[in-house]
Amino acid sequence: MTDAIDDLLDKMTLAEQVQLLSGADFWSVAGPDRLGLGTLRVTDGPNGARGGGSLIGGVTAAAFPVGIALGATWDPDLAHDIGTALAAEVKSKGAHMLLAPTVNLHRSVTNGRNFECYSEDPELTAALAVGYIRGLQSQGIGATIKHFAGNESEIERTTIDSRVDERSLRELYLRPFEDAVKKAGTWGIMSSYNKLNGTYTAENHWLLTKVLRDDWGYDGIVMSDWFGSRSTAPTIDAGLDLEMPGPTRDRGDKVVQAVQDGTVAAETVRRAARNMLRLMDRAGALHDRRDHVETADDRAATRALIRRAGAAGTVMLKNDGLLPLAQGGTVAVIGPNAKVARIMGGGSAQLNPHYSVSPYDALADRLGADALHFAPGCTNHRWEPLMTGRFDVAYRPKDQPDAAPVHTDTMMGSEAFIIPPIGDGTLDPTQAHVTLTGHFTPDDTGLHRVGIAATGPCAVFIDDKLVTDGRTWQKGRTFFEEGCDEVVGDITLTAGQTYSVRIEVTARTGDNLQFTAFRAGIGKPLGDDAIAAAAQVAARADTAVVFVGRSGEWDTEGSDLQDITLPGRQDALVAAVIAANPRTVVVLQTGGPVEMPWASDAPAILQAWYPGQEAGHAITDVLFGDVDPGGRLPQTFPARWADNPTQSQDPEVYPGLDGKVRYEEGLMIGYRHYDRQGIVPLFPFGHGLSYTTFALSDLSATVTDDGASVSVSVTNTGDRAGTTVVQIYVSEDAPQVPRPDKELEGFAKLSLDAGEQRRVTIPLDHRAFAYWDQDGTQWRIDAGQFTIHAGQSATDLTDAVAITLPGWTGAV
Ligand code: BGC
Repeated sequence: MTDAIDDLLDKMTLAEQVQLLSGADFWSVAGPDRLGLGTLRVTDGPNGARGGGSLIGGVTAAAFPVGIALGATWDPDLAHDIGTALAAEVKSKGAHMLLAPTVNLHRSVTNGRNFECYSEDPELTAALAVGYIRGLQSQGIGATIKHFAGNESEIERTTIDSRVDERSLRELYLRPFEDAVKKAGTWGIMSSYNKLNGTYTAENHWLLTKVLRDDWGYDGIVMSDWFGSRSTAPTIDAGLDLEMPGPTRDRGDKVVQAVQDGTVAAETVRRAARNMLRLMDRAGALHDRRDHVETADDRAATRALIRRAGAAGTVMLKNDGLLPLAQGGTVAVIGPNAKVARIMGGGSAQLNPHYSVSPYDALADRLGADALHFAPGCTNHRWEPLMTGRFDVAYRPKDQPDAAPVHTDTMMGSEAFIIPPIGDGTLDPTQAHVTLTGHFTPDDTGLHRVGIAATGPCAVFIDDKLVTDGRTWQKGRTFFEEGCDEVVGDITLTAGQTYSVRIEVTARTGDNLQFTAFRAGIGKPLGDDAIAAAAQVAARADTAVVFVGRSGEWDTEGSDLQDITLPGRQDALVAAVIAANPRTVVVLQTGGPVEMPWASDAPAILQAWYPGQEAGHAITDVLFGDVDPGGRLPQTFPARWADNPTQSQDPEVYPGLDGKVRYEEGLMIGYRHYDRQGIVPLFPFGHGLSYTTFALSDLSATVTDDGASVSVSVTNTGDRAGTTVVQIYVSEDAPQVPRPDKELEGFAKLSLDAGEQRRVTIPLDHRAFAYWDQDGTQWRIDAGQFTIHAGQSATDLTDAVAITLPGWTGAV
């Protein structure tokens, strides 16, 4: 095909080659018509294939577990199965490429996008990414691993300068990308928004050419994050093949001109165009001129896979013997996450699921609704709950708010994310004034809170009375840092009475991203009496299960968390329920750790993350022991927020200062940090209980030509089948350079019957022992002794063996 691609390039004019280097619209790249070429379509990513259009609504799609839930499975084979199933989803949306997986590491515990990323550890992240990409690409769908690189926070995310030393990059942050290139042959990589050591990654020649192409031998394409390409010659020269989204801002005629002026070499354009044609050929898009059709492909096999994956990632953090629950008796179902299915995080990863199963629904299926007694206890939202029902929408040019609308339509619900164009395309959404009119009928009488957040000045009127005034607009932390923080106003309403609602939004031109979005909601604040009522419900039931945590409003692209306490009054609720009923299970759904002041009093705690559309089923499968809790923590859960690796007196370390964030902790993220500081976490990395117990024995290690081979016997010492993850950590006994106390270098997940024993062998290559030798710009092992530890979590290392390795250096 290489020859055919060169032939094609020879036939193309410069302008036609340039056409391949930017999007035609938000989600596609079109080959030149004259040559009969097709259109390449991409879709987000990563926990499903949302399809084109906006982030909200659209054709339904299968919702898979989010990244951290997949991280908790410690199962690259399962990631492969998920990649394979996702390929069918991408095809159902008429696309060729998925904008996934997301593999930035959990540097802080508050990164808004940690839910989307697998782990704090590069070895685990890389292994899962390789499985996922291989599965996806085995079906002819391209992966776009992201965000390359240094995008470990959402604060000032489109402009921040991440200052990271090369050794930490090579050993930690680049590693998942390196394996994706070398082991999985990824077809795509997305550069991040941020600067890396002073230069935007989209213009970073060291990253995109030296490391990626020269060191790793990459032959795929690099595309920008959306609006993350900000220049013409610097991005092309650095190695950024594709500017997204389209229509172009910095390419097209500007590139043609730059070639004519001699500021960009024709050969550079040709090289990038060749990369694009190779991708289109691989993905079957080169001659794909089919009409773009999106369908909802709700498959039974995918439902089953998602359910299995959800349970496989559920981590049993604690169990005093209450779990698994027996069938029968009454169950108090408590908490703000009980009746709402928390299936995914927020931002570009969100999609319109085929369906979703809440924990309450799944428990009702299993036990019958009569056995359940529900109380919400408190709320945990960040923004007031959206209004449902029909709204009439009128769009006007924003400088003529009193003119007749240029377009009208209707929408269901009080939330919108508008990407060009409006109506017949004459009105740019960032130049629009939008008016929604609809109705609201409250269920309860009393004080209600009305909130709105938008990408421009906004207000909510109830029965024509201004209740919430966001007209003095101030940039905040919603809508990818293009929206204001939610503005609220209070009003007393009467149950059953219907009120008119009018929402007004005046759009703005975005600072970094161009779209218009808003969300408006109404909620009724819950007080002490709601917690007391929940405690009473719990006291009367045989067992209480309290469903608490966060949601995609908190765990979201576009803003970091401000702390890791459970939002709202949930800690008080959990404590009250445990006090009322000693048989209380706490089920957490979050995208990362939370402080748990009630942990020592709780008989059982499950962490279920956001496991996709089968959430309720996956959780109840584990609660009742149909499935062993298969998850192990992919991130350390600290006892206190202040214990986490980015905690520093210096704000430049986190959250960043004057546009910079300095990765001062270097290699010491995750368990490496807790080890070095001697901090005991609440639950360590790799931790997770089974309904049975396992013992390791006979650990051995031999030196091989490639590094070492480690074997260990694993025995199920309990009386039921179950699953464990054997974890192998390596430490250098007398390192000549500073190194972490130990690092995860291999693992194996295995399911054993009661009493069964199996011997597992885990190969460790040279890189498992090597460090990045900054002076020699190479990988290096200094001859000497290493200790290999085996265990079932980072702090449960039961076996160790020493080996002596000869010196070694390895090329990049
Ligand atoms: C995100 C990417 C995503 C892209 C397209 C960006 O805001 O950072 O991960 O793929 O939007 O939706």
